Amino acid sequence: MEGLVCREYCPGDTADVLEVRNPIFGPLSEEGWDRYCPRMTAGMAYLDGEVVGAIPLDQRDFMLAPQLSVPVAFEHAVGVKEEYRSRGIGTAIIEATREFMADRCDLLMVYRGAERSAGYRFYHKSGHRDLLYLSQVRWDPPARLSSDARRVDIEVLHDRQDEILCAHNSTYSSCGGHAPRRHGYWREALDGQILIAVPTEILFYRYPADGEIGAYGIFGIPQHEAYETNIQILEIASRAGTAGTRQILRAAGAQARQRKAIVTDYVSVDHPYRHLYRELGFVEDLRGLIIMGQVINPQRLFGRVCRFPQLLADLKINVWTPTKDYVLFEGPDAEKEITLEAKDIIIERLLTRRLDVMSAFRHDLLTIRNGDEAIAGRLAEALPFSPWCHHQLDWI
Ligand SMILES: CC(C)(COP(=O)(O)OP(=O)(O)OC[C@H]1O[C@@H](n2cnc3c(N)ncnc32)[C@H](O)[C@@H]1OP(=O)(O)O)[C@@H](O)C(=O)NCCC(=O)NCCS
Repeated sequence: MEGLVCREYCPGDTADVLEVRNPIFGPLSEEGWDRYCPRMTAGMAYLDGEVVGAIPLDQRDFMLAPQLSVPVAFEHAVGVKEEYRSRGIGTAIIEATREFMADRCDLLMVYRGAERSAGYRFYHKSGHRDLLYLSQVRWDPPARLSSDARRVDIEVLHDRQDEILCAHNSTYSSCGGHAPRRHGYWREALDGQILIAVPTEILFYRYPADGEIGAYGIFGIPQHEAYETNIQILEIASRAGTAGTRQILRAAGAQARQRKAIVTDYVSVDHPYRHLYRELGFVEDLRGLIIMGQVINPQRLFGRVCRFPQLLADLKINVWTPTKDYVLFEGPDAEKEITLEAKDIIIERLLTRRLDVMSAFRHDLLTIRNGDEAIAGRLAEALPFSPWCHHQLDWI
């Protein structure tokens, strides 16, 4: 489009970001934006010098598989001024973002709901593909729930991060799909921009009531008229089995009952507490939230996600999709050239460890020119499928 310039946000552009963002997503002050920079940046669009679009980007690490975290940029509050929509400006910002973020991150990602909506179509059209499906679960707890868990100040969590990490790792260390937990993570997350945009009361429960923490739950109650009164499970974990988690949920259930609220979470098929939730009476909605992503630099990401490159040392691997052709990998002893042929989503999932390669090959979703089942088997071993589990505390 003539006169359109898309580029990265610079210090000094804050008023421009907010000029686009605030009429669509509600008020955020300049301080509310500036305090998150430089971790927060944005793709900006100017038409003949006027700001017309902004895509804020939160740079963070994200676990693709156990012990495998990569740098990504999460898009959020994505907006183009109303009078300029459907002219390719949003897509042009994403294209520019792919370029200027390529040296810093491996993937653009977004939390997105409503697969039938225009918003979802925008992300799909601009190259994002579905990596994880989540369903909201809702619990209207019964009366008179008793619990041995105790509500304590959130500072207890910050003071006892070794115990918290231990419970978290026990529950989720076999999954990707979330930001890596480390000392300091929870303070950053609870101080995040989303909690300024949507002020949220935080509740923290621990079990047992005293001594070492075996299980914990962080809950949020959004104080915003657009949200129904609910107690959202932001993160819940337990060091051993589900007994502690059950106590935490019972305490949150009693609190919800007092406030005439329900308890909610988002679960993927691999969520370790999905069955416990069902047993307690949580009701699952249709899938309503997706983690979408698009790979920015496939060769570099392949180098990070491939567990055993030596298994593929004799191969040159090309990729063919309906929209792309490129060389993905060339082993040091390459003597055989193969081409992975698939829809874009299959390749995005392969590169994010979200594909069962053998199953995709056997079911004709991935065909391999000049390849066979043995080569598919080697790829499957080098890039095994990883279960993902989302925590609402990561939301932006
Ligand atoms: C989503 C949005 C940023 C896209 O920007 P854009 O400049 O209109 O995007 P493009 O012109 O490059 O792509 C247009 C596609 O986006 C989708 N789209 C169009 N109008 C839209 C709207 N009002 N809201 C959401 N998506 C829209 C459609 O799929 C459209 O494709 P089509 O024109 O072939 O039907 C912009 O429409 C917008 O600000 N929407 C409101 C805020 C929003 O929904 N943000 C996304 C969720 S955080």
